[in-house]
Amino acid sequence: ESAHLAVDPAFSVAAVDRRLFGSFVEHMGRCVYTGIFEPGHPAADDDGLRTDVLALTRELGVTLVRYPGGNFVSGYRWEDGIGPVGERPRRLDLAWRTIETNAFGLNEFMTWAGRAGVEPMMAVNLGTRGVAEAAELVEYCNLPSGTAAADLRRKHGVAQPHDIRLWCLGNEMDGPWQTGSLTAYEYGRLAARAGHAMRKVDPSIELVACGSSNSSMPTFAAWEATVLEQAYDQVDYLSLHQYYDPDKTDPASFRASAVDLDGFIDAVIATADHVRAKLRRPKRIKLALDEWNVWYQTRFTEPEDRPIAEEPFRLIEDDYTVTDAVVVGNLLISMLRHADRLTVGAQAQLANIIAPIRTEPGGPAWRQTIFHPFAITAGLARGTVLRTAVTGPLMATGEFGDVPALDSVAVHDAERGELVLFVVNRGTEAVPMQLDLRSFRGLEIADHISISDPDPAARNSVAEPDRVTPRRTAGPALDGGTATVLLPPVSWHALRCT
Ligand code: AHR
Repeated sequence: ESAHLAVDPAFSVAAVDRRLFGSFVEHMGRCVYTGIFEPGHPAADDDGLRTDVLALTRELGVTLVRYPGGNFVSGYRWEDGIGPVGERPRRLDLAWRTIETNAFGLNEFMTWAGRAGVEPMMAVNLGTRGVAEAAELVEYCNLPSGTAAADLRRKHGVAQPHDIRLWCLGNEMDGPWQTGSLTAYEYGRLAARAGHAMRKVDPSIELVACGSSNSSMPTFAAWEATVLEQAYDQVDYLSLHQYYDPDKTDPASFRASAVDLDGFIDAVIATADHVRAKLRRPKRIKLALDEWNVWYQTRFTEPEDRPIAEEPFRLIEDDYTVTDAVVVGNLLISMLRHADRLTVGAQAQLANIIAPIRTEPGGPAWRQTIFHPFAITAGLARGTVLRTAVTGPLMATGEFGDVPALDSVAVHDAERGELVLFVVNRGTEAVPMQLDLRSFRGLEIADHISISDPDPAARNSVAEPDRVTPRRTAGPALDGGTATVLLPPVSWHALRCT
């Protein structure tokens, strides 16, 4: 069955916020240690930062990086990670039951972020700590001088303030696994109080309140409503976290994961707007999808089920397939489709842990399959998001019933005269798609970049790091403003038109 896709400049959603293409660095497994930071590695710079990973981070097109957790932050004392490295304490990290040496901390992260060219998104601990420590961290980071915390930063060799704009008020505080988890009311009050104090230090910061840890949490939606009822005036964003596990559902439902993400985002918008109506506020809360990815979560061993780790170890280093890459590409399409409310994203995580970038200690770094749709989308999605009008085949799924096999979104950069269509075929049949560009007179399909493989289970590895790479071809010529593009089974595409 064939498909038809039309797009028009009038189908405008919103401008793309470049913060959508964020990532996440947590003190967990080998994300920091032997991931982005490995003193003594042949590619490490004078600060122990792996330049091969920095180069891949820039190539990935990451714009923003959340730090330092994750579950880790809920037991973290940020003061442990500043000052002379030799004087920093060794601590038991309660989240992952690993010894944290604190050889890498706040200022090392900010040096790394500067070299990677990314905006930091800093999380405060609202699990074991509270209002005073959060406000003091903002003071250490953002005040120029003349107060104890700001002068301490200067003493640590950082003369200019870090000027961090975006702050997470804790992490997954609804999760029973979270150190110091709270009820929605308790957390809403704490987020409001901490946010209020942090803004007294620096009124220009933007604050993200924790939403649910995922849409299957028993308190989902009630949590969001209660938290916002307490903290609406103090916060700018509500967070969403969502991971998709290929082993947890039928293959068609997994390939259609973006249907679930669409529903999740829509439900959070509806809940935030319900509270807005109830409180009679003009402000609209924006959304931050600040943890998302494919994660083979059913293969994960809980930290309580293993001994305390003395060294960073291989924790959830998932090897991603072509199908996983197509799903990641589709999740990015869903995120762009919601660009009017969802303006911050952070894929979890950047290196080794469920990550687009993998490393070997002392060895190479390489791109996983999921690296490619992220890098291409982040590189090309500039301008205004446009809805597409699509007709085409349906596919049956166990979880969502019949859903469209194709999914797509467009981004139009009027200034540069460029239109990019992101399209995914999540079905198992090839689909000839007629592309209708009659509303964009004068444009031609300049490049067709795609990810697909006769073996959808193919992966990259240290032995074969480029087994799966995107294919780039010239697009078909338009005839009367239309052209037919063949979309192979389980495939992701970017069609760049100039
Ligand atoms: O990204 C891995 C973990 O998943 C994070 O620490 C936590 O926030 C989430 O549950």
